[in-house]
Amino acid sequence: MRPLKERPDRQIPPFAAFARMTLTSTIRNANALSGLSLVLFLQVHLGGLTSVLGAPASFEAYASGLHHNLWLKPLELGLGLTSFLHISLSLQKALRNRQAGNTADLVSRRGEPLAAWASRSKTIAGVITLGFIGLHLQQLRFPRPLDGHEREALVHVLQQPFSLAMYCLGALAIGLHLVHGAEAAHRSLGWLDPSNKSSIRFGGRMLAALVSGGFLLISLGLALDVGA
Ligand code: HEM
Repeated sequence: MRPLKERPDRQIPPFAAFARMTLTSTIRNANALSGLSLVLFLQVHLGGLTSVLGAPASFEAYASGLHHNLWLKPLELGLGLTSFLHISLSLQKALRNRQAGNTADLVSRRGEPLAAWASRSKTIAGVITLGFIGLHLQQLRFPRPLDGHEREALVHVLQQPFSLAMYCLGALAIGLHLVHGAEAAHRSLGWLDPSNKSSIRFGGRMLAALVSGGFLLISLGLALDVGA
């Protein structure tokens, strides 16, 4: 005899469903917060570099002041941990989305080609950024240039065509990643609603253009040794 109502084959117990939901939202929130902290680092980093083209002496003073600051080590450690957290949570999230066959994000962005493109290319933009950072740290952080020779080291690095290409690619990838990330982070944290959606989108795109354009200009300026 067949039962009147068929039961689903695999029913998740309520506690397991609750634990899974909590884990998913913790991953989403931590990923968003770590991403926003990295955006803050990018702004500070770009701000610190602005004088490298127009005022080399004050750039050198800024760089050596930074190297001798007691807070630098803990800040670097925090930055490393935040980057590690962001990368591993992004991978987790991508894996979960893939397993769930989730394409909702792309479908809802059909009318917005830039947002859809940025969303689709978030993984490749992340991978390019990571590759760039590996090269960047190996060239300028391990070891760090000597005090008073920071600009000279930068010009030396950026006058190599391969490095210049990687810096430009890195700057573009960061911009694309930010177009997606700024809005996605606000959505994940529940800060996006119909009344502020367009201002957050606009603000995110402006920030992406500023950060990406700023790093591009500085890279090209250093390659041409502007303001020496
Ligand atoms: C025009 C492009 C850039 C230039 C000229 C530049 C320059 C530098 C310099 C000179 C340092 C070493 C600072 C020191 O002496 O302590 C540095 C460190 C660093 N840069 Fe950049 N940077 C650029 C773009 C970027 C971008 C786009 C990112 C991130 C995606 C980035 C991430 C980092 C990180 C993580 C460090 C190590 C910070 C630390 O541990 O102190 N940079 N950069």
